[in-house]
Amino acid sequence: MMNEKVRALLNQQINKELYSAYLYLDFSNYFEERGLDGFANWYYIQAQEERDHAMLFYRYLLNNNEKVTLEAIAKPDKVLDSDMTVLKAGLEHEEYVTSLINDIYAAAYDVKDFRTMQFLDWFVKEQGEEEENANDLITKMELFGSDPKSLYMLNSELGARVYTAPSLVL
Ligand code: FEO
Repeated sequence: MMNEKVRALLNQQINKELYSAYLYLDFSNYFEERGLDGFANWYYIQAQEERDHAMLFYRYLLNNNEKVTLEAIAKPDKVLDSDMTVLKAGLEHEEYVTSLINDIYAAAYDVKDFRTMQFLDWFVKEQGEEEENANDLITKMELFGSDPKSLYMLNSELGARVYTAPSLVL
């Protein structure tokens, strides 16, 4: 049997990841309305990845014969009033998700739940990449965002991102 605190945190993470997907879909929608289809594509794929993350937590609990309870997903509540606001909200959100993953890891560590720690290792690495990607976007926008031609090229670069399924399979 899994420790109840660990189970509850893993269960909660399903909701947090689905909220992340919803948040990034909102970001994608913002950029669709702006006419920046490459940025919209980038966040649309990000939303798909977050949905995948939710499914991994869902599957992990079921594979361990643990109970799953699905809760309501909150409305995305960030006020998106500029491109940079969106990008910075993305970084801030990833830092928050990293703290959540760390909390689950700490709870698993406390009760010597090595299986869950091993499962979470993939997410620890993934969060490092997610934060780096969000930081890169901000840096590129700071450098090139004010020049229309450069913004067009950055938009094209982000439009080339394609969805790939997560490397972690349960
Ligand atoms: Fe699933 Fe972007 O954290």
